Amino acid sequence: MRPAQLAAAALAVLLLSSCSSLPPSSPAATPPATGGGTASQPATASAPATQADPSGTAVEFAAAGDFGDGQAAAEVLDAMAGSKAQFGLALGDLSYGSPGKESAWCSFVADHLGPDIPLQLLSGNHESDGRNGSIDAFAACLPPRLPGAHGVYGRQWFVDLPQRDPVLRLIMISPGLDFADSGRWDYVPGNEHYDWTATAIDSARDAGIPWVVVASHLPCQTMGRYDCEPGPAVTNLLLDRKVDLVLHGHEHLYQRTHQLSLGPGCPSLLPAHSAAACIADTDSDFVSGSGTVFATVGTGGRPLRDVNASDVEARYFAAYSGKNEDPTHGFLKIRVTGDALRAEFVRAGGGNFADSFTLHRR
Ligand SMILES: [Fe+2]
Repeated sequence: MRPAQLAAAALAVLLLSSCSSLPPSSPAATPPATGGGTASQPATASAPATQADPSGTAVEFAAAGDFGDGQAAAEVLDAMAGSKAQFGLALGDLSYGSPGKESAWCSFVADHLGPDIPLQLLSGNHESDGRNGSIDAFAACLPPRLPGAHGVYGRQWFVDLPQRDPVLRLIMISPGLDFADSGRWDYVPGNEHYDWTATAIDSARDAGIPWVVVASHLPCQTMGRYDCEPGPAVTNLLLDRKVDLVLHGHEHLYQRTHQLSLGPGCPSLLPAHSAAACIADTDSDFVSGSGTVFATVGTGGRPLRDVNASDVEARYFAAYSGKNEDPTHGFLKIRVTGDALRAEFVRAGGGNFADSFTLHRR
C-alpha cells in the first residue's frame, strides 16, 4: 500500500471509529457528519437551513437513485424541484460519468434542482469504488446541508428532522459497497457498521423520535437482476428493529413491498425465498411498529430494466414498475409528520405508473 493509500485508510478508520460508538440515548454526542470519508466537509456548522415547515412538524423529501445525466434524469430533478420537497436524497449511482468529472454532475443537479433544494448523498457502487467518480468528490460539490447530521456523509450518516423536536431519523448506510480506500463494508453482527446502525436506530427510539427511515443503495429482496448483495444480516436487523421504511436504489426499476415482519413463522427473511408468514400487512395503509416497508427507487434517470414478476420473492411486493411494466421514471416523495408517514411515487417521465402508501402511528 502506498503512503497516500495508507493515510486515506487510516483516516477512514479514524472517522468510522469516531462515529461507531454513539451512546444509546445521546445521538447528539456523536461527531457531526464529515464529507465523504474525508475531513474536508464540516457538515453543518454553517449549513443553511432547509425549507422546513414553519410549524416544525412536517418533513418532506424526494428520494431516488441511479441518475446519470440524460434527459430522464433532468426530468426527474425538474420534478423534484417542482415538488416543494425540502431536500432530495440520492440513493446512490450518481453520474455514471468519468472520474474527475464529478463537479460537472453537481452542476447538472444544481441547474435542475435550483439553489433551495439540496441533494443529499448516499454512495452507490458506481462511485464507492471510483469507477464513475469518487463519492468524496461528489460529497465536496454537493455537501451536507441538513443541520445536525452525524457520521460520515455519503457513506454512513444520520440526521434528525427537523433538528428541533424531530419527527424523523433518517439513517444512511452502505452495506455491501466496495470503497476505494477501505474495501467492502460488511454489516454483520458484532462489527462496527452493524453496531453503528443498530445504535442509530435504537437511540432514535429511545429519544422518542416517531419515525425511522433507513436508506442503503443495494437491496436484498428484489424482482430485478441482482442477488442479495448487502447480505441478509442487515436486512434482518432492520426488520428486527421494525424500521418503518427502507429505501434502496441499484435496480433500475421501482419495487415496493408489503409491510414485512419477523415473527414465529418468519424467524428471518431469507434471500431467494419467500414465506407468507413474513408479510404483516398488504393494504398499503399500515400501522407503525407492525413491520417494515422496503422501496427500491432506481428510477432516477438511467434506462429502466425489466422486473421479473415470477421471481420467487415477488410475493413480497405490492407495486412494481420497470422496462417491461409501465416504464416510468420518477422519485418517491415522502412526507412525515408526528402522526403519519406518507409516500407517493411521483412520475417524471415515461409511463403512468403510480404508487402510494401510508403508515400511521399506532
Ligand atoms: Fe445503478
